Amino acid sequence: MSKVIQLSDPHIVPRGQLAYGVVDTGAALATAVATVNRCLPVIGPVDLAIVTGDLTDFGSSAEYARFRAIMSELKIPYRVIPGNHDLRTNLRASFADQEWMPLTGGISWSVELPDFGLVCLDSLVDGHHHGHLEADALDLLNDALKGLAGKPVLVGVHHPPFMTGIRPMDDNNLRNGAALQVMLDAYPGESRLVCGHVHRSVTRAFGTSIGLIAPGTSHAVTLDQREGNPHTLSLEPGGFMLHEWRDGFVSHVVAANFSPNRFPFTTPQAPS
Ligand SMILES: [Fe+2]
Ligand SMILES: [Fe+2]
Repeated sequence: MSKVIQLSDPHIVPRGQLAYGVVDTGAALATAVATVNRCLPVIGPVDLAIVTGDLTDFGSSAEYARFRAIMSELKIPYRVIPGNHDLRTNLRASFADQEWMPLTGGISWSVELPDFGLVCLDSLVDGHHHGHLEADALDLLNDALKGLAGKPVLVGVHHPPFMTGIRPMDDNNLRNGAALQVMLDAYPGESRLVCGHVHRSVTRAFGTSIGLIAPGTSHAVTLDQREGNPHTLSLEPGGFMLHEWRDGFVSHVVAANFSPNRFPFTTPQAPS
């Protein structure tokens, strides 16, 4: 049974700094990694982890080095795609030792797991916060879908192609999601789209597929749907997702920090 862990939007800053002056994103990612490791014996084996963008806050080499140092504790292999807070050149250089990292172009890749294909696409537009899938990303998806020939496919993209009601995020979502939807709608196998960017769990239909946004590992974008709402973050609990194939795709949202203690579902007997 193939399984993938999705971490998203860790927004790592240089050691000793807080993101936006309030969030210890490095500690939050370390906590998420420790929680994944703690879960593995009871949910595993897990094939791979993916990090769906915004690995860092500013895309500096120092931030990527810190990201890799924290992620080195993860007990399963992982791959990444960029988000709007990443810098493609620095990200590529920081993972130059990884065989899955493309030498040129967008940082998109695919891998075939026993039960489904996993295709992750670069939606970063240099210098902008919105997302766009360039021709090389769509071509990679097209080729992967041809090769998978109807086998289920999990597609990862940083920017979601649908509205959430949070205006500052909706203004900067995936601008050409229609091209992605056409391809998934035409695909004969089951598909699931998993995104990041909004830092909170959101689900909706995406054509014949289902689109999910994963929570971030640390802070959330505030759920404020008023017209003209200020763009703020909230210190909500971080999380990650587990996507697995059973008789269809099943996706779980898991809190990044919870007590390892377990308690049986038994009712204590009242003293007689
Ligand atoms: Fe983000
Ligand atoms: Fe983002």
